[in-house]
Amino acid sequence: MCVQKSIKKILFEINQCKNIYELNLVKSKYLGKNGYINNEIKKIKILDKERKKNFSIKINKIKKKIINAIFLKKKFYISLKNSSSQRRFFDVSLSYQDMKNGSLHIVTQSINKIKSFFEKLGCEIVFGPEIEHKYYNFDALNIKKNHPSRNFQDTFWFNKDYLLRTQTSSVQIRVMKKKKPPIRIIVPGKVYRNDSDLTHSPMFHQVEGLIVDKNINFSNLKWIMENFLLNFFEEKIKMRFRSSYFPFTTPSMEVDIFDKNSRKWLEVLGCGMVHPFVFQNVKINPYKYSGCAFGLGIERIIMLKYKISDIRSLFKNDLRLLKQFK
Ligand code: DAH
Repeated sequence: MCVQKSIKKILFEINQCKNIYELNLVKSKYLGKNGYINNEIKKIKILDKERKKNFSIKINKIKKKIINAIFLKKKFYISLKNSSSQRRFFDVSLSYQDMKNGSLHIVTQSINKIKSFFEKLGCEIVFGPEIEHKYYNFDALNIKKNHPSRNFQDTFWFNKDYLLRTQTSSVQIRVMKKKKPPIRIIVPGKVYRNDSDLTHSPMFHQVEGLIVDKNINFSNLKWIMENFLLNFFEEKIKMRFRSSYFPFTTPSMEVDIFDKNSRKWLEVLGCGMVHPFVFQNVKINPYKYSGCAFGLGIERIIMLKYKISDIRSLFKNDLRLLKQFK
């Protein structure tokens, strides 16, 4: 092979290598033990003195060129590998996909709004078990054995003692048994009733409130309810306090708000002054302390605020509804 011609061909071959692996193949082809350069060197011994010298100078130059070309090309591929593993390349001209962020469910948002209102009044957020003993859910709350809410139509019983709590009022008892007044608590949570139609769901959320101290009176309760509802509905609303009955409060009231569209009064919550029998059950002296309590259904006030007619739509995870509360 003519040496001048061959170096062009070899350099071209090196240049064509697409990766380090191919470079190594070319390297052993030309610089290896049985490679091109070594084979050429072997020919030296048959040459005369003058040609020996010229030939070896040429072959050494070629060898150096090959070594250098392979070295540079390898360096290039190594730097490429390092930079691609360390740096991300962004093509700013590419179109982007609209990122769809999730958001809190309107039930969670509303519970958070209620929590933050009552936290400002100094209330502690408390939770209780959803599987409850009948003592906390009924007995200690002064709900008599023959009360309709105890029977199989309303309550999901596990056995004769345990049930899925039907109201967060059960947590009032748990807290008052453990803690001496003053007590200021808010209890958000799930409750369960065997009932299902447009306005009832077998599982729904309630928030319970309880304040016990030395001079808690009816005006305190009324002020709290009025301000809480104004804060929740975020507009001036007409409300009325209607006398009612709950076994664990006396006197008891229900609060209604006036719906401008239907021109009807709609019930939003129940409340009252803690019944002395309840205080006796938890060993709090009713002559020394008084308390007020209230309870409301979260889904119900959401439906009233946003004019939702079917409670089930709140649990369907339909994006068309969820997106409206981002
Ligand atoms: N627990 C009642 C219910 O589920 C709501 C309620 C009414 C709670 C009056 C109270 C209260 O604390 O004082 O219907």
